[in-house]
Amino acid sequence: YRHLRVALLGAGAVGSQVAALLLKHGEELADRAGASLELAGIAVRDLDAPRDTDLPRELFTTDADSLIVGADIVIELMGGIEPARTRVLQAINSGADVVTANKALLATHGPEIFDAADQVGAQVYYEAAAAGAIPIIRPLRDSLAGDRVQRIMGIVNGTTNYILDRMDTEGADFADVLAQAQALGYAEADPTADVEGYDAAQKAAILASLAFHTAVPLESVHREGITEITTSMMDAARHAGYVIKLLAVCERLTGHEPSASGEAISVRVYPALVPRTHPLASVHGANNAVFVEAEAAGSLMFYGAGAGGVQTASAVLGDVVSAARRHVAGGVGVGESTRANLPVLEIGHAVTRY
Ligand code: NDP
Ligand code: HSE
Repeated sequence: YRHLRVALLGAGAVGSQVAALLLKHGEELADRAGASLELAGIAVRDLDAPRDTDLPRELFTTDADSLIVGADIVIELMGGIEPARTRVLQAINSGADVVTANKALLATHGPEIFDAADQVGAQVYYEAAAAGAIPIIRPLRDSLAGDRVQRIMGIVNGTTNYILDRMDTEGADFADVLAQAQALGYAEADPTADVEGYDAAQKAAILASLAFHTAVPLESVHREGITEITTSMMDAARHAGYVIKLLAVCERLTGHEPSASGEAISVRVYPALVPRTHPLASVHGANNAVFVEAEAAGSLMFYGAGAGGVQTASAVLGDVVSAARRHVAGGVGVGESTRANLPVLEIGHAVTRY
């Protein structure tokens, strides 16, 4: 076996589960990867913070800088823009592959990070950055690379779906359910990102960039959150045969100047009335669902846990195994393709079917 050093940055809801699973299933993952995976250390902010985990204390450090030196794979699970951006670039420039679940970082600094990786032949893996445990990044980037995606529509934020679902089924209070979503590890460190739709917009930008091979700036994504939604609105929707869901819609539109092909992209996040007979109405709790319509493949549906520490750890560890296999093969990774360069329209949700 090759021996690979893995540096983990962050031991919160996701990071602590990644570390626990890596230690528990290390031998099995080594068999799959063709390389032993040594968890070299875990960088955190505060060594004395109470932790609901029995991870070995000696693995913890506040010195992320030293931990990254000599690592073959760096897993970034700190969240936020800084210092995550600096650490990810440091990891890339020191020759490591990076695994991250950080959609805020990728939606705002993706081009910088992917360019830095391309320059040194490193790879950035981010299956967990959209829709938690659901495999959706690889299907869009790899499996559908020979097709033309027309539309993506789905529920891509677990916290807001959990809140809306509890409001709908139990008449629960918004603030109470948000506090529960935080306690369950679904919400972002600042839950404004969830309830105001920023997190869903970041994921929509990432998914649209992959699906349409076009860099989609976060500023071009129309965004509305769920903070204005009340239980009486949920009741009215129910009586009319609908449920309110926070949707992300990414569409290829035709007949738009100034694109040479007459095509353009529209990406929107907003609370929508979904008929109770529609499959999206049956997405409960912190689950997510993503519908993809492609020219040749037709309609595809991806469903599962959209948030949660251990569920997201599954996607992170899948990326770790991929990175390890790439190291073993000495191979070149799959680059991001944004060559289609379609214009991204800044339009509201009025044009959208749910
Ligand atoms: P948490 O807030 O629970 O954990 C963050 C961890 O990072 C903590 O251990 C914290 O240290 C550490 N950290 C934060 N800042 C620093 C710093 N400056 N230096 C060193 N360590 C630092 O986050 P989550 O685990 O929920 O999320 C991690 C990432 O995964 C985010 O990008 C999030 O968007 C993404 N994600 C989360 C999902 C979820 O369900 N929670 C699902 C999918 C993606 P300390 O413990 O000392 O405070
Ligand atoms: N806060 C995010 C959510 C985590 O609730 O969906 C998963 O990306």
